[in-house]
Amino acid sequence: MKILKAVVMAVIVSGFLFSLASAGGKMKGDAEKGRALFNDPKAFGGSVSCSSCHPDGKGLEKSGMKDKKEWTNPVGTFKSLEEAINACITAANKGQAIDVKSQEMMDMVAYIKSLGMKMEKEMKQEIPMEMKEKKSGY
Ligand code: HEC
Repeated sequence: MKILKAVVMAVIVSGFLFSLASAGGKMKGDAEKGRALFNDPKAFGGSVSCSSCHPDGKGLEKSGMKDKKEWTNPVGTFKSLEEAINACITAANKGQAIDVKSQEMMDMVAYIKSLGMKMEKEMKQEIPMEMKEKKSGY
């Protein structure tokens, strides 16, 4: 009986720790999950995906940049990335706006921020690539 109690306790405690850990994880967005939502036509109860207008996030590379203050889409101009995302969700995707503090929103923001980082990386990689080509030309 004692062993059973210990096992039950261990399960409860580890369950509790796990939920704490995942609650901690909720503080941050997951770019991979955001990408999945971005490509899913039904993600927000709508009928088209974000990527149908922004293929692979193209054109949104600057949307996640820190110094950005205004976001514009066909519906209007917004003071936060979250509002701009919701405006595209309701007007373009014909879906339901999501809570700006929700996990889904954080995942979307993380994905859009990752687009800018990808662009910066590619820009950095361009220089050595060009240098390589020049060298081989001689
Ligand atoms: C029907 C086409 C369409 C769909 C679908 C769409 N968008 Fe847009 N979105 C636009 C257009 C057009 C603009 C304005 C021009 C631009 O920045 O590309 C825009 C602008 C934006 C901007 C602001 C860009 C900036 O930095 O000022 C964000 C962020 C954005 N969209 C995110 C999304 C997200 C997230 C989704 C999916 C929930 C989505 N869009 C779905 C057409 C669309």
